[in-house]
Amino acid sequence: MTVQSDTQSWQLCLSCGAELAEADVATRCRSCGGLLEVRHKPPELSGQALRDHFDGRTSASGVWRFQELVLPSATQPVSYPEGNTPLLYRAPLAAWAGTSDLALKHEGHNPTGSFKDRGMTVGITQALRIGARAVVCASTGNTSASLAAYGAQAGLPVFVLVPEGKIALGKLAQTVGFGARVLAVRGDFDACLGLVEEAGERLGLYLLNSVNPFRIEGQQTIVFELLQQLRWSPPDWIVLPGGNLGNTAAFGKALEQARELRLITRLPRLAVVQAEGAAPFARSFAEGFRHRYEVAAETVATAIRIGNPASWDRAVRAIRLTDGVVLSVPDAEILAAKAAIDRAGVGCEPASAASLAGLRRLVSDGTVSREQSVVAVLTGHMLKDPEILLESPALGAAAIEQIEPTISALATAVEAASRTIFREA
Ligand SMILES: Cc1ncc(COP(=O)(O)O)c(C=O)c1O
Ligand SMILES: [Zn+2]
Repeated sequence: MTVQSDTQSWQLCLSCGAELAEADVATRCRSCGGLLEVRHKPPELSGQALRDHFDGRTSASGVWRFQELVLPSATQPVSYPEGNTPLLYRAPLAAWAGTSDLALKHEGHNPTGSFKDRGMTVGITQALRIGARAVVCASTGNTSASLAAYGAQAGLPVFVLVPEGKIALGKLAQTVGFGARVLAVRGDFDACLGLVEEAGERLGLYLLNSVNPFRIEGQQTIVFELLQQLRWSPPDWIVLPGGNLGNTAAFGKALEQARELRLITRLPRLAVVQAEGAAPFARSFAEGFRHRYEVAAETVATAIRIGNPASWDRAVRAIRLTDGVVLSVPDAEILAAKAAIDRAGVGCEPASAASLAGLRRLVSDGTVSREQSVVAVLTGHMLKDPEILLESPALGAAAIEQIEPTISALATAVEAASRTIFREA
């Protein structure tokens, strides 16, 4: 079917080239099961004129500011608003990673505390446009918190499948609080995703995992926004954690569009960082992507505890397009990076710290040189995973000391702490 001649946007199968209408509810190609991508007719402006257009637009949302590249025909976006997250410059963290030019794009500043809100504002907007009666996702936690919030705002029932006992407390609490129906599955994330993909068609639930191409459209704006913050002068590298690889796919698509529309003239390289116990994509990259792997995933970074990433093919394209790299880091390095980020007063959840841990490795093995400019994406907020902070001595649990309610006990504690502080200084 050819639909693109008379509509502004359509969906394209990346495997067989089939086209589906923009309003089609399929989240995979009906002919071959391949992943879909949303395509739009290019905006009338490009280059400096398009940059000026975006720079001049005052929008409370850092997603809908780029509407022409996201979902041009939407008239009533369901927006919190979201995006407009800061680029942070912190010398101690640049020094920790070994670079001289590091910016941290902190996506934990989104309304529900993770980058997922950027995709969800578009996904839920699309759900209303196609008349969905209910929405569903599988989640390691952040997707469910975001879907629950945006679903509540849109008045849509939300069903969420999570791996039982494997969800960080902050994320689960948000999901429950926003009113979603939570189903704790006795299985891992990959089992949850398999279930919801099947349930979508059978039970008439609109699937809002990142296989849904409208989610990817919104997540592209992390890249558009950081390029705009850098006055459209791209960094040498963008470093991000990789789990289900939706973000990797979104970053590749955004960079491709940005270059085609002459918003930028040079592509940054992508560096995708996985946890060593959940690194099928890194293993495949090391072998030139000759094989696709699936692993039984295990890592403290629960948000990237994914063994069979859904956006694999799209992510391979993104890495090839940008001459990117994929690597893995052990949990101990993720926690060390998190401790550094937290102690710098920035804070993030464990999966986000994989970015900085990966960057440190890339600098030490010479892949990234000290002078190159780097943007590392912190994907989620520190409060998402309070358990790890209170359970891990390295992250701060050891700092909690119990005392009697007396001034002398307090004086002793202050005195003892001062000795350590002054010795450290
Ligand atoms: C905080 C955080 N970081 C990273 C990721 C991984 O993103 P992706 O699945 O798009 O690779 C997730 C996904 O749940 C996440 O919640
Ligand atoms: Zn197809």
